Amino acid sequence: MKCCFFLQTITSGLTNHPRVKAAAIEAIEKWGTGSGGSRLTTGNFRLHRQLEERLARFKGTEDAVVFNTGYMANLGTVSALVTRGDLVVSDELNHASIIDGCRLSRATVKVYRHKDLAHLRNILSAERAACRRCLIVTDGVFSMDGDVAPLPELLDLAEEFQALLMVDDAHATGVLGKKGAGTVEYFGLEGRGIIQMGTLSKALGAEGGYVAGDAALIDYLRNRARSFIFSTALSPPVIAAAMAALDVLEEEPHLLTQLHANVQFLYQGLKEMGFQVLPTESAVIPLMVGDARQALALSAKLAERGVLVPAIRPPTVPEGTSRLRITVMATHTPEDLQWALDAFRQAGERLGFF
Ligand SMILES: Cc1ncc(COP(=O)(O)O)c(C=O)c1O
Repeated sequence: MKCCFFLQTITSGLTNHPRVKAAAIEAIEKWGTGSGGSRLTTGNFRLHRQLEERLARFKGTEDAVVFNTGYMANLGTVSALVTRGDLVVSDELNHASIIDGCRLSRATVKVYRHKDLAHLRNILSAERAACRRCLIVTDGVFSMDGDVAPLPELLDLAEEFQALLMVDDAHATGVLGKKGAGTVEYFGLEGRGIIQMGTLSKALGAEGGYVAGDAALIDYLRNRARSFIFSTALSPPVIAAAMAALDVLEEEPHLLTQLHANVQFLYQGLKEMGFQVLPTESAVIPLMVGDARQALALSAKLAERGVLVPAIRPPTVPEGTSRLRITVMATHTPEDLQWALDAFRQAGERLGFF
């Protein structure tokens, strides 16, 4: 049976790119399979630094630091940047790794309603003066709705209230911006001091996380972020794969164009069919169902036909907003997409969606 994976967050299809696979194999031959220690002890390879320099160039920052996962990047960074006596203000739909980083920091944590700038301003007006340092943190592309954070307005508020601004570009890297560098590039905010976190595990088809920003900030994180300091470094093939993926992304810009064309094709097809799909600028298409059991039933019917799309239910999303979270890839062919649309139509008809 043909199989089409719409659950993957690997939007570029780079996990299977020949150059990416060859780079990983070559790194194993040259350096072995493991790094053997943490970066600050024995696990620091030239490759790690090369990837960090490569990421900094891609993101338009002075430097970058690589963590073992995106989760660890958020955990380590938020908890290193703020502590007791500081304030962290976080969008209510931010990723769990940000939430956990906020909790771990022991700073005062305030949550603002999703993308609600007036609410954020109220919190800053009420709380900022009493705190030493302040961090505003947001997802760049929100993982469940696929919508984009209002980064320019967030930056204005950060500047007005002398706060740091951090963006989690896990779902924006390799997706948004002319070269796929994420939300900062998308909004033309390079050089404005925004702390850019991301993961290597989605569009870049490898694994690991990173933070890109000013050199002093990155140096500080290398010496303060506990999830960086106290964990064995990523293995050489993973690092080499991520670096090759960045090269491919840069040298094959059609991947980015193709990704957005595929998203639009699938979105239009589903909409015309009668499904309630949310418009998106990212690679995440939420197909709203409402009832959790209906969402599971639709996901199961699609799985029978080899189309794998996860049903997202409470507590991941609020009650009554269960949905299918469709993630499109650049490597989906027109035949893949048409075949998936046919499966959606049949499943939708069977379950009485239209
Ligand atoms: C928005 C966001 N941030 C962070 C992460 C964590 O990244 P990783 O899977 O590399 O730990 C994810 C991934 O699932 C995510 O969706």
